Amino acid sequence: MSTLKRSPADFAFLGGTPAFADLLPVGQLYFPSWERYEAAMRGIFERGWFTNHGPLAQTFERRFAELVQVRNAVTVTNATLGLVMGAKALGLTGTVVVPSFTFVATAQAMTWAGLEVSFADVDPHTHQLTPATVEPVLDDDVSAVLAVNLWGGTCGPSALEALCAERGLTLLFDSAHGTGVSVDGRPLGGHGALEVFSFHATKTLSATEGGCVCTDDDELAARLRNIRSSYGAGEPVAVEVTGNGRFSEAQAAIALLSLEDLPANVANNAMLHAAYVDSLAGIDGIRVVAPTGADESAFPYLVAQVDEEAFGMSRDALVSLLAAENVVARRYFRPGVHRLPPYRDAPRNHTLRLPVTEHLARTLVQLPIGALVDLAAVEQICSLVAAAHRFAPRLHVEEAA
Ligand SMILES: Cc1ncc(COP(=O)(O)O)c(C=O)c1O
Repeated sequence: MSTLKRSPADFAFLGGTPAFADLLPVGQLYFPSWERYEAAMRGIFERGWFTNHGPLAQTFERRFAELVQVRNAVTVTNATLGLVMGAKALGLTGTVVVPSFTFVATAQAMTWAGLEVSFADVDPHTHQLTPATVEPVLDDDVSAVLAVNLWGGTCGPSALEALCAERGLTLLFDSAHGTGVSVDGRPLGGHGALEVFSFHATKTLSATEGGCVCTDDDELAARLRNIRSSYGAGEPVAVEVTGNGRFSEAQAAIALLSLEDLPANVANNAMLHAAYVDSLAGIDGIRVVAPTGADESAFPYLVAQVDEEAFGMSRDALVSLLAAENVVARRYFRPGVHRLPPYRDAPRNHTLRLPVTEHLARTLVQLPIGALVDLAAVEQICSLVAAAHRFAPRLHVEEAA
């Protein structure tokens, strides 16, 4: 049966056949071949070494440090914990400026580290923090800026480095989306005091769950390693309290396989991204947002902006229409972290308006890209979007909640 939409009745939300038989997710979702996975797990069994900074974790740290050209890559259980540990290892106090247009974990990590969070708006074109968006929220309580390198682009670290140096602020980066991204001739990883990467299954490099704190500061890295292990680790560099942020051998095994396949996965993303750009180009009211501020990107997301008037349908209606076709489009980062608990309830945020963040949160959509997506799927999704636009005046789609 054809899944082309020749009339409104062909859309799945009106009873037509869904364009995809199985759910097509947003996110990288890389799986190594079963044979390579099995061999890696057999090695773990043979060595009888599951965790506590085993040989695979050590090898991965060396290889990732080489990839991002930093002196220290400290693997951790996930990026959220890496950000908490980073703030603790740096001894941050007071208030940290973060963008509101980010995944909620950026701010939550600072809250777990006992810090106040002050939200800054982002640039309307790049969606990133800039000196111009940070300056208005700087006050005497601010001790640090946690910038995010978003969408496989960057926030232009050097301009923020200059601002923070001038104001005596610590600068750290949430580079959860940053594997395979370079700027000013070098990979993300060595900017500011530290950068934190995520190896969640949806990220370009997967450990299923996982993360890494990168820094060129050896003493800071020693503090991080000490915090990572409940008993402390290595040369004792004083830290207030230790914890458990370890990266298991099973995580490291997948991460090493994912690292081997990184060039192929990045090439796949780049091809799919280019296909989306081509196929969506002629549709009024839809614009692909390319990663900005990077020499090289791994294209981990396909971000598009919906202009409701020109497209004929709201972003939320499009998401709902696509969901019925088994296309899981996402609305990152809705509604903006300053509008989520616990932040929306903080008195300082009651009257906070971040117009760019709020506009982006209403209009952006992320479409499937990554290891489970191929060119035929991209063409099918773009044809669905084109049909949604064509038939929009005759479609009354209930908006996704
Ligand atoms: C911008 C950003 N920061 C932090 C995180 C948290 O990463 P993790 O899931 O590894 O804790 C994510 C995860 O999606 C993210 O997108």
